[in-house]
Amino acid sequence: MTLLGTGDLVRAAGERGHGVGAFNAVLLEQLEAVLAGAEQADAAVVVQVSENAVAYRGALRPLAAAATAAVAATRTPASLHLDHATRTELIHEAVNCGFASVMYDGSRLPWAENVGRTREITAWCHERGVWVEAELGEVGGKDGAHAPGVRTDPGEAARFVEETGVDALAVAVGSSHAMTERRAELDLALVARLREAVPVPLVLHGSSGVPDGTLAAAVTAGIRKVNLSTHLNAVFTGAVRDVLAQRPELVDPRRYLGPAREAMADEVARILGVLGATGSAAAL
Ligand code: G3H
Ligand code: ZN
Repeated sequence: MTLLGTGDLVRAAGERGHGVGAFNAVLLEQLEAVLAGAEQADAAVVVQVSENAVAYRGALRPLAAAATAAVAATRTPASLHLDHATRTELIHEAVNCGFASVMYDGSRLPWAENVGRTREITAWCHERGVWVEAELGEVGGKDGAHAPGVRTDPGEAARFVEETGVDALAVAVGSSHAMTERRAELDLALVARLREAVPVPLVLHGSSGVPDGTLAAAVTAGIRKVNLSTHLNAVFTGAVRDVLAQRPELVDPRRYLGPAREAMADEVARILGVLGATGSAAAL
């Protein structure tokens, strides 16, 4: 199947009342795991490549080409999304590489600068049919720089969307990036208030720290796109660790990356079930 638009996936999920899983990949095996997990769940999925992943690889194009080819090789409806981009040039490159959507992350900027840059990037993307997510009220956690106590104000969020024209908004409601324990508490009442106030779909970042039941409740309260990465990395790495602990003599990477890919795919499928997305692929 060819790449779909993230907006189409999110819209279809909104009509059916479930969440869209958006999972990050750094390695080819992780791209394959995301798509295999979605296929297992018979659900659509957003494959995310972050600015940090691009920095690790040293270039966007190889990962973008691999992701596009991997999607084309499966039956899974999927879109390709650039995650947490702060550099305009990277956004331009991603769009030229065929990304269906981008997240411009100006959340660390002062209000006026965040609004100005987000508006400019959104206009540029919209001219090219690309869906834009932005962030207001930083979702804490990355590099230990921010506490999970940050909250997005519904009035400010509505104003931000109106002034920038973005298609989706990442909100701070209690989650925190890169948690390795699933014990975050979300402000579900705030999610509901944001849902009322904001005319575009809401995105939850830092979902790895959110327990299953709370993730499902967040979708019910109004979250539509669920970004999750660290938890899947933990499952992937855990599987590698287990295999190598049992068979320290192994040298062929397929022997440990293969089981890791399988474990991650199973977890992707399970999380898609938590979001209520199982069986939703047919709607696309
Ligand atoms: O944008 C990506 C997500 O916010 C991932 O956060 O690694 O804490 O799940 P996480
Ligand atoms: Zn994030």
